[in-house]
Amino acid sequence: MNGTRAIARAAFESVDSLFDRAFTTAWNPMYHLGTLGWFFYWITIVSGIYLFIFFDTGIHQAYESLEYITNVQWYAGGVMRSLHRYASDALIIVMMLHLLCEFVMDRYRGARWFTWFTGVPLLWLVFACGISGYWMVWDVLAQYIAVATTELLDSLGIFGQSIARNFLNPETLSGRFFTLMVFIHIAVPLFMLLVMWIHIQRQRNARVNPPAGLAIGTLGALLVLSFIEPAVSQPPADLGIVPATIDLDWFYLAAYPLLDRLSGMTMWGIAGTGTLLLLLLPVLPPKRRRAAASVDLDNCNGCGRCVDDCPFSAVALQPRTDGSGFSEEAVVSASLCTGCGICAGACPTSTPFRRTSELVPGIDLPDHRIRDLRAATLDVARKLTGPARVIVYGCEHGPALRQLQSKQVAAITLPCIAMLPPAFLDFVITRRHAEGVFLTGCAAGDCHYRLGLRWEEQRLAGERDPYLRARVPRTRIGNFWAGITRRRRLQQELAAFRERLQALPPPEYRKPRPATDTGVAAGTESHG
Ligand code: HEM
Ligand code: SF4
Ligand code: SF4
Repeated sequence: MNGTRAIARAAFESVDSLFDRAFTTAWNPMYHLGTLGWFFYWITIVSGIYLFIFFDTGIHQAYESLEYITNVQWYAGGVMRSLHRYASDALIIVMMLHLLCEFVMDRYRGARWFTWFTGVPLLWLVFACGISGYWMVWDVLAQYIAVATTELLDSLGIFGQSIARNFLNPETLSGRFFTLMVFIHIAVPLFMLLVMWIHIQRQRNARVNPPAGLAIGTLGALLVLSFIEPAVSQPPADLGIVPATIDLDWFYLAAYPLLDRLSGMTMWGIAGTGTLLLLLLPVLPPKRRRAAASVDLDNCNGCGRCVDDCPFSAVALQPRTDGSGFSEEAVVSASLCTGCGICAGACPTSTPFRRTSELVPGIDLPDHRIRDLRAATLDVARKLTGPARVIVYGCEHGPALRQLQSKQVAAITLPCIAMLPPAFLDFVITRRHAEGVFLTGCAAGDCHYRLGLRWEEQRLAGERDPYLRARVPRTRIGNFWAGITRRRRLQQELAAFRERLQALPPPEYRKPRPATDTGVAAGTESHG
């Protein structure tokens, strides 16, 4: 399983880096599959509202009203209809890729099960929307869908009488049943919006809008497609004859041809088992979870930075329970915590300038302590020799760092790169434990813990607390967000960084005052 997933992940990352070059990292659609899903949803809603204004819900008038929209008011209605269809097709594509991507990147198990679990009903809802939409056109495709779907529903044996009988001939066709379909096509998207909202509730700072450039480009592509290949109806439905040829929409209706070969119950069996498997996937097998972050009240002043930085809403502030002078304290919900350590990287007390004996930050990972990170840093630094000594910090989900190590280069792996407090860079460089620090990890734009790369970059750029002090020369910090497929490029970037280090004049740092070695917040600066 792990081998297959690694191959699939490498394949995904190769496509990602290809798209990085084509669209730039910021606009790479592969990093915005979820937000594109929202975007396509809104396009279908807006275009759907327009169509509904001119659509006649009567069974005999539906086809004519759509012909009017498509042919008579071509530039407005026709384009809206095409946008409606192509955005729904695009929704299927990004949703399937999104599902596959989260699975392959292993972002669906452990504390993250909820988001996966709530994604599964979205699959059913999207298909229900699309199928009911095709039905409303009441052309030969709609007729085929109506007959096949009602036969499938009849095979469940839960309806008092056969619904497929409605579609035997024009006389048995019930207008009320058609109205029900229109109602479903409006009610399901509204319910879907609720599920989409629930789906992202555990993601802090969840993005629901793609970047403007990507949104404009995507809308432009859909418009071009709408002009080149406008969505049109097929010949009108006629229950008196069985249509000879029908064009299927393979995004929504790929399973329909199977209905000719398999019984209704077999189809329900396949769909039910598939859904159950998807729902159970987060526990097949369950993820070995790292112990949740824990708070040390003696070192927590309730500043809330850990709350702001936790990507999974696992930390909250609550009224102080220990009678100290501070009004609030951090509290971790163990069931939501993924053990990424980003909170420890955000805590102002996580500074290596404190003595080892005192290095218990306000929040820490029990099996990956900040104190151990300091010890590991000093340990590897002691063994480095030669010019341009570099300590590389990387994350568990990026490339294996062993291959980078040499007499001049040491590497330390963290759960997430944002577990590294900026004060560590200050410590390594200004205390001359190495000439430079190099950071690496997941591919840019695709952090395993969602926000780790973004937070770390903002901290180093001085845009987010705790930020890197101005005294640390930026020329001595390098990074390359490699992912697992760009190992060779990582080696090249590191080699180039070391060459640049060698060309730098010797650094001049102020000698540390002895007092800073014990100062709680030394080495960390804050905007607040
Ligand atoms: C209409 C369809 C869907 C939409 C619009 C959608 C949208 C989103 C969005 C906006 C996010 C948050 C991205 C972020 O800020 O990190 C997300 C996360 C996620 N989605 Fe979906 N999603 C859809 C369907 C699905 C399906 C079908 C599945 C799988 C069964 C799924 C699984 C996940 C998972 C596992 C995450 C969380 C990843 C993490 O913890 O980082 N989604 N989705
Ligand atoms: S960042 Fe540290 S000090 Fe601030 S609330 Fe969280 S644990 Fe407490
Ligand atoms: S380790 Fe910290 S930042 Fe990561 S999920 Fe747990 S509480 Fe949130």
